[in-house]
Amino acid sequence: MTSAAITASGLKKAYKDKVVLDGIDLDVRAGSVYSLLGPNGAGKTTTVNVLTTLLSFDAGTARVAGYDVATETKKVRSSIGVTGQFASVDELLSGRENLQLMVDLHHLTGKEGRTTIDHLLSRFDLTEAAEKRAATYSGGMRRKLDLAMTLVSRPRIIFLDEPTTGLDPRSRRTMWNIVRELVADGTTIFLTTQYLEEADQLADRIAVLDQGRLVAEGTPEQLKRQIPGGHVQLRFASASQLDAAVRVLPGSAPDPESLILRVPSDGGVKSMRTLLDRLDEYAIDVEEFTVRMPDLDDVFLALTGHSSKTEAIAS
Ligand SMILES: Nc1ncnc2c1ncn2[C@@H]1O[C@H](COP(=O)(O)OP(=O)(O)OP(=O)(O)O)[C@@H](O)[C@H]1O
Ligand SMILES: [Mg+2]
Repeated sequence: MTSAAITASGLKKAYKDKVVLDGIDLDVRAGSVYSLLGPNGAGKTTTVNVLTTLLSFDAGTARVAGYDVATETKKVRSSIGVTGQFASVDELLSGRENLQLMVDLHHLTGKEGRTTIDHLLSRFDLTEAAEKRAATYSGGMRRKLDLAMTLVSRPRIIFLDEPTTGLDPRSRRTMWNIVRELVADGTTIFLTTQYLEEADQLADRIAVLDQGRLVAEGTPEQLKRQIPGGHVQLRFASASQLDAAVRVLPGSAPDPESLILRVPSDGGVKSMRTLLDRLDEYAIDVEEFTVRMPDLDDVFLALTGHSSKTEAIAS
């Protein structure tokens, strides 16, 4: 394998006259985490399905693990693992039985298969629930089992389509740690997400997908430099207090109607203290104080001039 695990150039896909992928270029280094960030309907799952040979495409080229996605389908498939957006576990089977299915599919020998299953169950903290039906599992347990099933064949390149959507913060963190462990072992991860924070936490590079086009690509730092930072939102009891605050807080943006003032901020303790000290110094009372860090919507507004929710409303 070359140092590129996944490459794509000018990938296009349309359903009748609806263009879903409009010329996607990708270059994913082996052993890295690459995150495709985008809102509902951006084309994330379509991209994953094309790269994993599950879906044909209309134009462009793509190589995964050095193999051509269009012509070397079998070789691509044997080099990758895919955990889809919707868990593919069989609810009627137990966790162990689901894993056994994958072991059988990949023709692992009896002993090797048993060791692999036990190891994965324990790694994903599912040993206790192993004999219970997957139908009784929580969303987080199901996603973990799904990923464990993907890992049976020890793929070097793994596609994870929105692995943490719908998970509570604790399960999300568990999933993040698993991804980090996989990368530490040298696995390449292609991960789609709707969460800027997730991409920021995990990815070496992020591509922002908007209605089938990449509107930005780079390291999390490069990306964040292109978007407005977070801000502090202050609400006042009166217009005179708001005016007073505007005068002493440079760069702040007031909304006289709601008596709210937005002050650019990195959200750090030091800058918070400076801000509060300044308000205190001028005896300005604040009714409400909220810190907001940039989210996907801020990214989209900055990069595309429209909200990430535009597509959902339009369709
Ligand atoms: N079989 C299909 N026929 C027609 N349109 C489709 C088909 N599959 C997907 N689409 C459209 O393609 C666009 C991209 O869909 P896709 O599932 O790739 O988005 P996504 O980024 O994965 O969204 P989500 O975050 O909701 O999973 C959507 O507008 C969707 O309606
Ligand atoms: Mg999707």
